[in-house]
Amino acid sequence: MTILGIESSCDECAAAVVIDGKEILSNVVATQIPFHAIYDGVVPEIASRKHTEWISQVAGEALGKAGINPSLVDGVAATAKPGLLGSLLVGLSFAKAFAWSLNIPFIGTDHMLSHLYAPRLCPARGSVQDVPDYPFLGLLVSGGHTIICKVSDFDQVSVLGTTIDDAVGEAFDKVSKHYGFGYPGGAYIDKLAVSGNTEAFSFPMPNLHKGEHRYDVSYSGLKTAVINQLDQFRRRDKNGNPYAASPENIAASFQKTAVDILLRALLHAVEDTGLTTIVAGGGVAANSYLRKCLSERKDLRCIFPPPDLCGDNGAMVAGIGYQYLVKGVTSPLTLTASSRVTEFKRRYP
Ligand code: KG4
Ligand code: ZN
Repeated sequence: MTILGIESSCDECAAAVVIDGKEILSNVVATQIPFHAIYDGVVPEIASRKHTEWISQVAGEALGKAGINPSLVDGVAATAKPGLLGSLLVGLSFAKAFAWSLNIPFIGTDHMLSHLYAPRLCPARGSVQDVPDYPFLGLLVSGGHTIICKVSDFDQVSVLGTTIDDAVGEAFDKVSKHYGFGYPGGAYIDKLAVSGNTEAFSFPMPNLHKGEHRYDVSYSGLKTAVINQLDQFRRRDKNGNPYAASPENIAASFQKTAVDILLRALLHAVEDTGLTTIVAGGGVAANSYLRKCLSERKDLRCIFPPPDLCGDNGAMVAGIGYQYLVKGVTSPLTLTASSRVTEFKRRYP
C-alpha cells in the first residue's frame, strides 16, 4: 500500500511517500527556520502562511522523488493534532482535498503517536531497522511536549509522566535565545556542549521525584537558574578559580542537567513497569548527550530513530497512517484540527 503522509503541525512543511508502513520512497522536509529565526521563535501566523504557500509543491516533490503518480497513491494521512492550529489546518485541508479528488481514504493522525512510530521506518531501501516489540516505554521529547509513556500498540499509549511546566525542547530554545546561541536552540546547545565542561555549573534538579510526580519533569527552575541566576551555580576548579561562564560551559552544564532530569523520571518508569525497551522520539531525541547516556546503559535497549526521523517529517505520518488503514480505520473529511490532546495530559488519581 502506497501512502502519502503530510506533516505541518509546526514549522516544518513535510510530505513523504511510504510503502506498507515501512519503506520510505521519499521524505521531503521544507524547513521554515530562516523565517522564524529572526524572531527567535516560531511565529504562528508566518508558519501557517508558509505552509499555505509551500504545501502543494512539497507534496508534489515527495511524489516526484518517489516516482509515484498521484493516481497510484492508496491513501493519504496528515497530522490532525496536536500543534499550531493554523499550521495543522493547512496540511489537513490539503490531505483531505487530495483524498477527495482521487477518491482514496484519508486518515488524520496524532503527531506524538507518529513520533513513536518513526523507528519502524526503513530510511533507505533494503535497510533493516531495530524494531521494538510492544509494550515499551516511550520518551517523547520535543519543543512542545515531554512525555514518558507506556506504549502497548501503535495507537495505544498511557501517559505515566509529563512536564509540569516547560517542555524540554522549550528549555533548550529559551536558554539559547537568552544567550544568543542560535535558533532553534537544541542543536546549537548540543554542538557547543561538546567542547564545554559539564561540571562548570551545578544547576539544581527539580524537587518532584516523589509520590504522584515520580515520572514527571519540570524545566522552569532550571531555565531560571541558567538565565537569571548563573553566578549562584558557578563552580570553582581545584585551584579555587571559578570556571569560565563561556557559552560552551553554560551549554554543557545546562544540557547535562536537562538530560539528567529526563533520565531520573524515565528510570523510575523502568523500575516500576519492568519495561527495559525505550523508544525515543521528537526533536530532542536527536540530542547527542541524551543518546550517549542511554546507549551506555547495558541494562536497557534504547531505540532512537535516525536523527533525520527524530524531528518532524511526513514519513512517520505515512507510516502510522498505513497501520490505521490496514485496520480499516479512516477519518471523515469533516475531521478538524486540534491544538491540544487531552489523552496526553497525565491523569492524577
Ligand atoms: O519534534 P520537533 O522537531 O518539533 C516539535 O514537535 O516541537 O522538536 C523541536 C525541538 C526544538 O525545541 C529543538 O530545539 C529541539 O527539538 N532539538 C534539540 C536538538 N535538535 C532539536 N534539542 C536538543 N538537542 C538537539 N540536538
Ligand atoms: Zn514533533
